[in-house]
Amino acid sequence: MSVLTFQALRRLADGRFHSGEDIAKSLGRSRATLNEALKLAPELGLDLFSVPGKGYRLGEPLEFLDADAVSRTLAAADARLRLEVVDEVDSTSSRLLERAAGGAPSGTCLAAEWQSSGRGRRGRSWVCALGGSLTFSLLWRFERGAGHLGGLSLAVGVAVARALREWGVLRAQVKWPNDVIVDFRKIAGILVETSGEMQGPSVAVVGVGVNYRLGERALERIDQPVTDVWGCAATPPSRSELLASLLASLAAALDDFERQGFSASRDAWRSLHAYQGRAVRVVPARDAPYDAEVVDVDPDGTLVVATADRGTLRLSSAEISLRTR
Ligand code: BTN
Repeated sequence: MSVLTFQALRRLADGRFHSGEDIAKSLGRSRATLNEALKLAPELGLDLFSVPGKGYRLGEPLEFLDADAVSRTLAAADARLRLEVVDEVDSTSSRLLERAAGGAPSGTCLAAEWQSSGRGRRGRSWVCALGGSLTFSLLWRFERGAGHLGGLSLAVGVAVARALREWGVLRAQVKWPNDVIVDFRKIAGILVETSGEMQGPSVAVVGVGVNYRLGERALERIDQPVTDVWGCAATPPSRSELLASLLASLAAALDDFERQGFSASRDAWRSLHAYQGRAVRVVPARDAPYDAEVVDVDPDGTLVVATADRGTLRLSSAEISLRTR
């Protein structure tokens, strides 16, 4: 996207009509250049109307993140959290992994209004909509070794579900290994990438994508059951309020994890796990799918399942889905 596209969309963010001439003039650009820049709006998941004599209008008002307001809240919650908000980036996690290698401190957070190549688990892409998603990553350094970070992504899931619940997404639950769901529909995805020495220290980049208010255009590009904060909370928080809470909740969870590992949140995870005791279909990364029942989660985040023919199995990576009996 071009810088001009974001500048123009900020002018249009209130959802009212604005004349193309006024916008172009205020940005020091020609009408034709503005027109070209706004042609990209549908790619960002936006409906933009152009009415002769009235100008441009967005289908819905657009809320950009208020970086200063979020940073003020974070300063009170945890002084180590340093937030940067950018309009566009390929992937906040890819950028933070680079910064981690360059020595960036623990607590560095990067949020993007738009990710052009958002990454999901298992090589999938992560779909977002401008103003309709939260996409951010948090860099955290641990004294404990990379070999002792098992269960970290599950602890992160608990932190995200808790923050969503605090803002009225009352039925937020987790799905092993690290989705956050409401009524079996995904509301947030988590990608945790770690590196470092086996015995420590280590570093994690925690990437979180939240479906805030997905419009039709974004929904068309998503191939799994999803829901969003707007559909689940009676009085939805602003994107900025939610981002501040998520980051504060994550910082507290990551601190707990440094001290106690996954055992700090294992009980909470169990009680939030929507698939506990359920009949599921297990889809391993390479092997053939099979049926099982979810039994428990181990202290290292491994999922324990019972099968009819192979007894108890421990899963460190796989996908599970509900099985209808
Ligand atoms: C998944 O459910 O597959 C994980 C999705 C993780 C998406 C987030 S969005 C912010 C961060 N940057 C990325 O490229 N991915 C994560």
